Amino acid sequence: MSKGVRSARIHPEQRWRWMRATTILVILSCFVSSQGVRGQDLGTWQLLLENAGIASMHTALTHFGTLVMIDRTDIGASQINLPPGVCRDSDDLVLKHDCTAHSVLYDPGTNTVRPLFLQTDPWCSSGQFMPDGTLMQTGGDFDGVRKIRTFVPCDPTGTCDWVESTTTELQSGRWYSTNQLLPDGRQIIFGGRSAFNLEFIPPNANGPLYFPFLNATNDDQNDNLYPYVHLLPSGNLFVFANRDSIEYNYLTDTVVRAFPQIPGEPRNYPSAGSSVMLPLLGSNNFSVVEILVCGGAQYGAYLNSAAQMPCSSTCGRMVVSDPTPTWDMTDVMPFPRCMGDMILLPTRDVMIINGAQQGSQGWTNAINPAFSPVLYYTYASPGYRMLPMAPTTIARMYHSTANLMQDGRIFIAGSNPHQFYVFNSDYPTELRVESFSPPYLSASNDLERPTITVAPQQITYNVPFTVTLSVPVALTTTVELNLVSAPYSTHSYQQGQRLVSLAVAAPIQVALASVYQVTATAPRGPTLAPPGYYMLFAVNRAIPSKAIWILVSS
Ligand SMILES: *[C@@H]1O[C@H](CO)[C@@H](O)[C@H](O)[C@H]1NC(C)=O
Ligand SMILES: *[C@@H]1O[C@H](CO)[C@@H](O)[C@H](O)[C@H]1NC(C)=O
Repeated sequence: MSKGVRSARIHPEQRWRWMRATTILVILSCFVSSQGVRGQDLGTWQLLLENAGIASMHTALTHFGTLVMIDRTDIGASQINLPPGVCRDSDDLVLKHDCTAHSVLYDPGTNTVRPLFLQTDPWCSSGQFMPDGTLMQTGGDFDGVRKIRTFVPCDPTGTCDWVESTTTELQSGRWYSTNQLLPDGRQIIFGGRSAFNLEFIPPNANGPLYFPFLNATNDDQNDNLYPYVHLLPSGNLFVFANRDSIEYNYLTDTVVRAFPQIPGEPRNYPSAGSSVMLPLLGSNNFSVVEILVCGGAQYGAYLNSAAQMPCSSTCGRMVVSDPTPTWDMTDVMPFPRCMGDMILLPTRDVMIINGAQQGSQGWTNAINPAFSPVLYYTYASPGYRMLPMAPTTIARMYHSTANLMQDGRIFIAGSNPHQFYVFNSDYPTELRVESFSPPYLSASNDLERPTITVAPQQITYNVPFTVTLSVPVALTTTVELNLVSAPYSTHSYQQGQRLVSLAVAAPIQVALASVYQVTATAPRGPTLAPPGYYMLFAVNRAIPSKAIWILVSS
């Protein structure tokens, strides 16, 4: 089995891309030295835990820096017990009396996991953080298909756990849905298997609302699952399914406009691409809004999974704030990828990580893991944005997750292409947890790395605020303050992920030592950044600080 970048199978027509990627590598290693890549540093991998007890299918970072990991309940015994005397009785097919945990809380401080208790099955659920930092998770399978579960995060020494509502349930059964926090603090939930509709939490009186776009984008593979949803600064929603996308006004239930179809393959589940809204920039008054979609599987790869068709190498980037936007397909990934996760980095670039090079989503439908992440330089010239990173040795395919951590690492968990726990396979159930440190974390950057020493715990829309930074060498006049949300990571898509790069005044040196004050204006309003907890990163010459958590509210 080929592993890593060098031995990855390369199609003849892709060889030129490889040559180009290699050329880029050489060029970038000189010119990018101002962008955080030093010499040969292409990132480093670290094995955090040999056995987390479960294979995480859904992962979310709380504002205490801990990570909630969630698998299915209907999978048999996991490898971590619930506390003594705690068991779960259910109608599960596999294990009706189960004393093991199917969700755990990972604490990076102690590098340990604590078992959490879930009663109902969150398989292929969706989720989002609420304005008060509560993780809300909706739907699943079997007894969980209409469930609403909440997790109120606590200090790592606390005992917080899941609470499952017994009074409110979803208006439609949902698995493979997408949630988005709205400016007014509600949550909207789109679609799911056999659910061409949407609903709100708290529930709206006339719901669920039929959503014809999901019917129109359905096909024989159901390529409209886990739709990509991005809250635009206008307050409307960008919704993408299969190869189509629209701008939708949920307040009036109207489609404002339809965008052109993306060239190439279908992109949503089970065809396994991913998408981000690129950073919203205070420097242009948040007037330019761009969507990026990368990877996917060929139509038919799911229906004819034995063919193990090559995944897509293409990315589309579209300026949706333009009156007549088109997909720019210039940047091609150095190797094909499906089930890649796309992570907005503190530096405003994007890490494309995890996944496979052949096949599709679904059990055992993929082979040939994509071991190397690719760093996408958002603001490099078109055609020169992709840089392959150092490979891992652990396959992260179906049912794996990726989340940005407070210290700038990417937390990697899961991969289970099987219905149950299977270890005697080429691509076994993966209980190991890793982190990937992008090149900006290299110790050789520490002289330029800022530290946030003083910052408010809470900021108010449109009101200026000041943070104090220290940095060993002089701060650049273009220091950035970037707010990054904590998304719900599942099925190679990060629900609710966004980055707001604030308008920042020139730093003022306040001490002879390298201490500076930087004043920024909080996001103009909740359509730019819906209320809630964000990580605030200071970035100096493309080298980020560790984040502090900040509550954005009215
Ligand atoms: C979905 O679209 C098909 C036509 O493609 C139509 O027959 C069907 O009624 C639609 N479903 C709903 C729920 O409207
Ligand atoms: C920025 O955009 C907002 C909303 O469109 C507008 O009200 C404001 O005047 C703009 N500010 C500047 C400085 O252009």
